[in-house]
Amino acid sequence: KTESLKVAVVGTGYVGMGTAVMLASLGHQVVGIDIDQNKIEMLRRGELPIYEPGLEDLLRASQERLRWTGDYASAIPDADVIFICVGTPPLPSGQPNLRYVAEAAQSVARNLNGKLQVVVNKSTVPVGTGDWVSRILEDHALDYSAGRYVVVSNPEFLREGTALHDSLYPDRIVLGSSSPEGIERLRQLYQPLLEQTFTPPEGMPRPANYTLPELVTTSLSSAEMIKYAANAFLALKISFANEIAGLCECVDADIEQVTHGIGCDQRIGHRFLSAGAGWGGSCFGKDTAALINTGSEYGYTMPILRAAVEVNQRQRHLVISKLQRHLHRLQGKRVAVLGMAFKPNTDDLRDAPAHDCIARLMDLGAKVTVHDPVAMPHARREWAHLTYDEAPTAEAALRGADAVILMTEWDEYRALDWDQAVRTMRRRLIIDTRNVLQQLPQHSTVEQVGRTTLHNVPGNEVLAEALA
Ligand code: UDX
Repeated sequence: KTESLKVAVVGTGYVGMGTAVMLASLGHQVVGIDIDQNKIEMLRRGELPIYEPGLEDLLRASQERLRWTGDYASAIPDADVIFICVGTPPLPSGQPNLRYVAEAAQSVARNLNGKLQVVVNKSTVPVGTGDWVSRILEDHALDYSAGRYVVVSNPEFLREGTALHDSLYPDRIVLGSSSPEGIERLRQLYQPLLEQTFTPPEGMPRPANYTLPELVTTSLSSAEMIKYAANAFLALKISFANEIAGLCECVDADIEQVTHGIGCDQRIGHRFLSAGAGWGGSCFGKDTAALINTGSEYGYTMPILRAAVEVNQRQRHLVISKLQRHLHRLQGKRVAVLGMAFKPNTDDLRDAPAHDCIARLMDLGAKVTVHDPVAMPHARREWAHLTYDEAPTAEAALRGADAVILMTEWDEYRALDWDQAVRTMRRRLIIDTRNVLQQLPQHSTVEQVGRTTLHNVPGNEVLAEALA
């Protein structure tokens, strides 16, 4: 049986919420801290500030081991382990803003109890500054607690939309520290995950072929580098697929067939090779920029990463080029955009390709109507600078449109009765940026990524079969 530890989690964003709820569900006593009093009130009422599948249920199921507070003094002194999970949003320079980490670390320091406490940094801070949090603790800790805390870097690899699943069934747990005591306490904390001794929550069964996660112990800075390098590698895998996709269009090859073919090589693998509108979200853009930036501090260039970023930018423009290929001037044209979130199953809009696409359409004078299953209310606040109409349903967005751009591959859009929906369009042009459509709707033209343009006009049904 695992020992239950007392845990404090500072920051209730994606990572903090996920960590807090997951650890409580494993049997630990968890208190979540946030300086945003509104968030705390919401959480106390059992409402979640973010949308994440399964989180609400697990929160409810673990309620008696979870509490929320805005007050460090009521949470930190008791904690065996303290997680810092505050945001590090990018500054205009591309460097992450470390202000919130610094403030959190200071508040933690002032409330340490003088016994051995492990402060875990989960926020993504630049590589090589691992002891920075430790220095802040040292500078702000009260005398009696001096020297009685250790810092461990424990990067988080969860994906939005599958955050809980990823944290319950990880591939690896990375712990970076020079302190054996720190590592040992976290090994205890993660014991139920490392040995998979917990009972899987309802609706989140252990994957059939799941193998136990590897515990990777490293130095502080290596752990930080693992986080950045992992994200950069995934980003570059996607950019590579997108670059090949462009060439496929030139030579009449099909990217879906090509990535399937290369992915069968186990050295390459199938995942993160989907060509499309390019990557977005809060991590890939920020982390590639931060790595490039760290390099330049040392006079070291990173040409591969730069190219990955460049390809990703170009990918967003290609969406518009495809429209122009058919509609020519976009002035006054009506364009429906399906999907705003940077990927399905989240309402997160950070660095979403849809943003740049809508902004460009506006610049070119198009009339834009959007739909997203969950992100529209969020967009009213975050994208107030963009002008577009909202449609209550995908079908309504398509009505009278000259073209539809499928930006985010929500299941709801896959399941749409496309034959029916395109009937109400003025022109049946579909820009499917995620290669979602399996069948060509009647009398339509479909542009996908890395595949030949497909026209379904009477007498051309052969092409329709090619897509099926
Ligand atoms: C990512 C990492 O996957 C995760 O390990 C890390 O902790 C945080 O950053 P996340 O940003 O939630 O997670 O999203 P992810 O599922 O990785 O997708 C990122 C972007 O890449 C999305 O815009 C997605 O649409 C795009 N993508 C992903 C592709 O274009 N093609 C692919 O094959 C996979």
